Amino acid sequence: MTDRYAVFGHPIAHSKSPLIHAAFAHQTGQDMTYEAILAPLDGFADSVAAFVAAGGRGANVTVPFKEAAFKMAQRLSPRAERAGAVNTLSFAADGIFGDNTDGAGLVADLTRNLKRTLAGQRILLLGAGGAARGVIEPLLEQQPATLVIANRTLSRAEELATLFGHGIRAATFEATDRPFDVVINATAASLAGELPPLSPRIFGADTLAYDMMYGHTPFLDFARVHGAATADGLGMLVEQAAEAFYLWRGVRPDTAPVIASLRA
Ligand code: ATR
Repeated sequence: MTDRYAVFGHPIAHSKSPLIHAAFAHQTGQDMTYEAILAPLDGFADSVAAFVAAGGRGANVTVPFKEAAFKMAQRLSPRAERAGAVNTLSFAADGIFGDNTDGAGLVADLTRNLKRTLAGQRILLLGAGGAARGVIEPLLEQQPATLVIANRTLSRAEELATLFGHGIRAATFEATDRPFDVVINATAASLAGELPPLSPRIFGADTLAYDMMYGHTPFLDFARVHGAATADGLGMLVEQAAEAFYLWRGVRPDTAPVIASLRA
């Protein structure tokens, strides 16, 4: 019998996940389907339960349900526990397992696809919401020299710095004005077509500016104008999907052709 998977979100119509997983399944010869499910804003748990009852084997979870998925999981991976959010669910006889592959996806894109070594580097993470929290631990595992979290609301950055330790510094955008090797935009500003009030001095000649959102963003335009190399989050999207696929199927798909075809 064909195994069923899905992505839950609200909105969900424009999700690229069904395309990505169909490409992975085709490439690796896995007998599975993957659909997009629009869950009602107040009905995520019921929607997932109905999918499980209908034979669903696993799911991805996107905005705004990652915290709800965290609460719903009966067992959690250590990285999901630290992230406080779940983007991947696996349904087994002994209950619902929750994982978070976002951070691993970001690190895979930065290191494997964009060929950036993060060890010993100065990293600036913009934002202190769920998206930022989800990638902190995998970034720290790369042993950067510095990790600074800059946020509009300083107290939220301070909370994350305290939670994760490791000498993370919290700052306002205004106080962040020296060059970094890698600047990662994890704010929700790009979603609204806005640019956080950044100093151009965070970009140097060798800076990579990375937006966790994919497509054209004001942040990437700003970074490019100020001399930085830029990358959007399409690679991260495909890499986090590959990590989820591996969790479900035990097979690692080749992400490069999938990223290339989505770009085209
Ligand atoms: P998510 O889970 O997507 O990260 P969130 O928890 O609501 O969503 O966090 C959104 C993040 O984007 C926060 O860091 C927020 O800053 P505040 O903590 O000060 O609210 C940031 N953000 C949203 N819109 C922004 C904007 N226009 N400029 C700068 N930062 C913005």
